[in-house]
Amino acid sequence: MTSIVLYCRPGFEKECGAEIQEKAAWNEMYGYLELKKNQGIVFFHLHDESHGEALMGKLPLRRLIFARQWFVTLTDNITLPDYNRVEAIVEVLGSEWQYDDLRMETADTNDGKALSKFCRKLAVPLRQGLRKVKVLTDKKKVEGIAQEGSILHALFLSGQEVVLGFSLAQNSSNHVMGIPRLKFPNQAPSRSTLKLDEAFLHFIPKNEWEQRLTSGMNAVDLGSAPGGWTYQLVRRGMMVTAIDNGPMAESLMETGQVKHKMMDGFKYVPMKQNVYWLVCDMIEKPQRVAKLMSEWLLNGYCKEAMFNLKLPMKGRYQQVTKDLQSIKDAFSEQNARYELYAKHLYYDREEITVHARLIS
Ligand SMILES: C[S@@+](CC[C@H](N)C(=O)[O-])C[C@H]1O[C@@H](n2cnc3c(N)ncnc32)[C@H](O)[C@@H]1O
Repeated sequence: MTSIVLYCRPGFEKECGAEIQEKAAWNEMYGYLELKKNQGIVFFHLHDESHGEALMGKLPLRRLIFARQWFVTLTDNITLPDYNRVEAIVEVLGSEWQYDDLRMETADTNDGKALSKFCRKLAVPLRQGLRKVKVLTDKKKVEGIAQEGSILHALFLSGQEVVLGFSLAQNSSNHVMGIPRLKFPNQAPSRSTLKLDEAFLHFIPKNEWEQRLTSGMNAVDLGSAPGGWTYQLVRRGMMVTAIDNGPMAESLMETGQVKHKMMDGFKYVPMKQNVYWLVCDMIEKPQRVAKLMSEWLLNGYCKEAMFNLKLPMKGRYQQVTKDLQSIKDAFSEQNARYELYAKHLYYDREEITVHARLIS
C-alpha cells in the first residue's frame, strides 16, 4: 500500500488529515487516514498505489496549511533487527532508485526527541552504507541541503521500527520534519519574535529578500507590544509605526526607527501610501483581522501583509478555510490578482500565519 506521511504540530493531526484528504479528493485521489494522536504524524493511505507519487507531483506542500513536511512511503512499517540495522535498511531499499539526501525523522514529542539521539548516531553508518551501493548520491548541496532530486526519509517510530519513503526536494521542506531551528535573539523583547522570523524565512524566498525585506522600507506593526515583531523589522533596517495601547520595549524606541502610537489597530490609517510591510499579531477575532488585512491591501495602504489568524478550539480547519476564503472573495470582487499562502508554522501555537500580496 502507498501512503503519504505528513508531519504537523502534535495535537493538530485531525486538521492535517482533513486537509490532505480534502485536497487529494479535489485531484480525484482517495484514501483513509491513520492519525498518530498527539505525535504530530498523519498517515494518509491511498486506495490507488500510483496516487502517492502523483499527488506529491500535483499538490505543492506550500498549499497545505497544517503539514510541515511530507513524504510518500516506499515501505510499510519495517521491524529492524537488534544488530545490522544499516544492512537491513540497505537491503530493503534495493538499488533501483537514487536519492540526493537522507532525512532521519521521529515524532515531534519527548519520546521522539530521545529517539533522535539514536537516529543521529545511526545516520553516519547509514549514509556510508547507502553511498557504498550508490543509493545515496554525492551531488553538491547548498548550505547542506539538496535543491533538486529525491530525498530519502526514514521515520523511526522506535529504535526497532522504521518507515521509509521519499519526497521531491523541490516540493518538500528544507528542514528536517519541516522544523527550522531558530535562535532566539537576546535583544528581542518577546519570544513572539521567532514567529515573524520564521514567517519571513518560510514565505519569502531568500533570493528576493533584497527587494522585499530590505533596509529603508516603511512598515506598520498592528498589535505590536512589547515589540518582538517590530524587532524583526528594525533589525532589517526598516522604519516602523507600532500600534498598540501597551508599552513598547525601550531598547526598540531608542533605535530611532520606531514610532509608537497608542491606539486601536482597527482605526489606524497610514497618512501616506509609502508602507511596504503590514504585520499584524493582534489577538482578535480572525474574521475581523482577515477583513482588515484585505482592506489594507486593496486600498493600497501596504504592498505585502504578514499576519496571524487565531484558531478556534473546535472546527479549526473549517474556520481557517472560511477566513481565507473571505480574503480571496474580497480580492476577487475587486478583480485583484493575488498571492495568498497560509501555514501553521513551527513557532505558531493556536494560530496560523498568513502572507498576502496583490500582484500586477
Ligand atoms: C500577542 S501580542 C503581540 C506580541 C507582539 N507581536 C510581539 O512580538 O511582541 C498581541 C497584542 O495585540 C494588542 N491588541 C489586541 N487588540 C488590539 C487592537 N484592537 N489594537 C491594537 N492592539 C491590539 C494587545 O495589546 C497585545 O499587545
